[in-house]
Amino acid sequence: MSELALLGGRKAKNKAFPEWPMYDDKERRALMDVLESRVWWRTPGTKTLEFERAFAAFHGARHGVAVTNGTAAIEVIMAALNIGPGDEVIVPDFTFIATASAVLFAGALPVMVDVRPDTYCIDPDLVEAAITPRTKAIIAVHMGGHPADLDRLSKIAREHNLALVEDSSHAHGSEWRGRRIGTFGKAGTFSFQSSKLITAGEGGMIITNDDEVERLARSVHDCGRMPGEWFYSHFIYGSNYRLSEWQGAVLNVQLTRLDKQTAHRHKNARLLDQLLGEIEGMTPQKLDAGCTRNGQYAYIFHVDRDAFGGISTERFIAAMNAEGIPNQASYPPLHDLDVFKSGEYRKKLTGRQAEETHAFLKGKFPHTHRAAWETVWIPQPALLGDEEDMHEIATAVKKIHDHAGELAAAPVAVRETA
Ligand SMILES: Cc1ncc(COP(=O)(O)O)c(C=O)c1O
Repeated sequence: MSELALLGGRKAKNKAFPEWPMYDDKERRALMDVLESRVWWRTPGTKTLEFERAFAAFHGARHGVAVTNGTAAIEVIMAALNIGPGDEVIVPDFTFIATASAVLFAGALPVMVDVRPDTYCIDPDLVEAAITPRTKAIIAVHMGGHPADLDRLSKIAREHNLALVEDSSHAHGSEWRGRRIGTFGKAGTFSFQSSKLITAGEGGMIITNDDEVERLARSVHDCGRMPGEWFYSHFIYGSNYRLSEWQGAVLNVQLTRLDKQTAHRHKNARLLDQLLGEIEGMTPQKLDAGCTRNGQYAYIFHVDRDAFGGISTERFIAAMNAEGIPNQASYPPLHDLDVFKSGEYRKKLTGRQAEETHAFLKGKFPHTHRAAWETVWIPQPALLGDEEDMHEIATAVKKIHDHAGELAAAPVAVRETA
């Protein structure tokens, strides 16, 4: 019989990983408190307000504005920064669609650039090269929890008078040179969707140290209202992006666990760096010297298929899942998505910008390509396990490596792209 679980052998993983989302009686009580108070709505409520303050303080920020999700957080900040038709915003090609779709939603053009080959975060040299007179902002994504190069990006933003926005949807509690992410530029945005590092199923947040950005973001998220004014007065463009009290209440409790969980994940990830680094063909995402704490939304590693019998990423992932290790494929490159390739995105642009040639459609993004099609992600709940769990992950990878030839030859029902 084969050693590989995918081919009928015994699994490498013996005990279950921690379940996610985590909750206990504190969430249960918080939800009951909201229920019984009959204040379920953000506007007169206290729970979401309390969460905004606590989450901002946790990241060393003066202000927090809670919104419905992480996509909305970027949409709101685009509006608050007055980004609109004719403007360009530089984004990494390697990210979730929301980073770019929020720019399009504002009627502006997302300009994609490649990422660094080691951290998979936006490459500051390419950001600098992509700046034009129309550029208004840079959105950096802290990929998998690893901060983008905030030294270089802050300097570029300052020198070119651009707004730096940190899309921190993966990076709650991550640190760059001992300082928590989110306030290195104009604003940081977060997601509290179900897989994220704290969650209420859905939810989002903007943090900022800039009083005017906070004033405008708060107004945009609440139908263009202004604090202290009559309820039916609306001063600027706005919509309803408010978070409910249910979510605020749950997130208040979730936040109390974040610090300890972040430290735990960071520590386990370093153990995995060591264990997987010893296996031929495995290259974990680099931990830059500037990253003093990685929130580790995911543990990302590159698999060199030559060291694994030439198997596809999909086949590797199927074999890992069969061994009992949750793992998944990565994001495809943004510029390759149908919405861009088909030209559909132009419908959100106006004037000359809608008609002209956009270089990113024909650009070369070798590092994004490699990150998109050749890396594997272990989702964060696995990193909340113990040391034995990390050793079992490494055992599974080693087993696949040692039996890769057999895996390559086996007829397995996996949809393979290459
Ligand atoms: C990098 C990044 N930005 C933005 C978002 C959007 O967050 P949400 O799903 O809460 O809208 C996500 C969500 O997965 C993300 O991964």
